[in-house]
Amino acid sequence: MALIDGMGRQITYLRLSVTDRCDFRCVYCMAEDMQFLPRSEVLSLEELATVAEAFVALGIRKIRLTGGEPLVRTGLVDLVARLSTLPGLDELTLTTNGARLAQFAHPLKVAGLDRINISLDSLRPERFRELTRTGRLEDVLAGIAAAREAGFRRIKLNSVILRGRNDDEVIDLVSFARHEQLDLAFIEEMPLGVIDEHDRARSFVPSAEILETIGQRHALLPSTDNTGGPARYYRMADSGIRIGVISPHSNNFCGSCNRVRVTASGRLLLCLGNGHGADLRTILRAHPGNLQQLQEAIQATLPQKPERHHFVLDEPPQIVRFMNMTGG
Ligand code: 5AD
Ligand code: SF4
Repeated sequence: MALIDGMGRQITYLRLSVTDRCDFRCVYCMAEDMQFLPRSEVLSLEELATVAEAFVALGIRKIRLTGGEPLVRTGLVDLVARLSTLPGLDELTLTTNGARLAQFAHPLKVAGLDRINISLDSLRPERFRELTRTGRLEDVLAGIAAAREAGFRRIKLNSVILRGRNDDEVIDLVSFARHEQLDLAFIEEMPLGVIDEHDRARSFVPSAEILETIGQRHALLPSTDNTGGPARYYRMADSGIRIGVISPHSNNFCGSCNRVRVTASGRLLLCLGNGHGADLRTILRAHPGNLQQLQEAIQATLPQKPERHHFVLDEPPQIVRFMNMTGG
């Protein structure tokens, strides 16, 4: 079985959001005062596992668990243990803000999680607090250390760089990543959800500028590593780590898109920048545990996968979903 969309793209990667809640309120991701979904609208662990099983049976090879913040979801380690043994799944990964990793890194490793991405936008405690509104840098640094101690390899840091907020930390973040032997990807801010904390058009820092800043310090060699995703990677002659840039604005990567998303409420989303999708929760609840019905719905929806996204910075967002709804 394979999932092929209307443009001939083979879909092998599922990003599965396990909660829309988060213990941070990052200024680019959330409004200060967020309304989260009532619990009854969020998929149960059993339903999440059923969704994953249906996708793997259809040829999905990689699943990334996302949020909100996945580690605020009770029972996440049990879900990881269940999914990690699915035959046919090559890689099970997690994106986290890192704040709870000191507690969970080891159990996640034991449960069979393969890799972790950790968000880190600043190395300065006060600034970290401002950008996340509620987060503590020291928790995340302890979480990164715990992930390494637990034996995770190829840990990747993600940094969203905003003009006038943390664009002066690009080199510090690179130095930190080199020192800690972690990969690092810089992400351009995407217009997901309406925020009034800052003007996204003014805060935007293009990836080309970040590469130029780093290039003044370290010669960057384009890497052949390609994860099939939107990141472009570079290497440095004197370090084993990879530096990536994810540029939804300045580099359109949709032609090789291999992914779909499922939100915490069970909505299949075919594209980060568009609304096309299907409500899987209704099917799940009408036919609990039935893989066949789900697979048919997924197959029937896939031809609607749009050719590309159209993010425009200086217009109101076309996508009113926040990132925590979408699953990153
Ligand atoms: N634009 C770009 N990146 C975002 N993230 C959350 N919201 C946005 C946005 N609007 C990032 C987080 C995390 C990843 C899951 O997505 O910082 O690294
Ligand atoms: Fe939480 Fe991640 Fe959104 Fe920050 S970016 S508020 S850590 S979900």
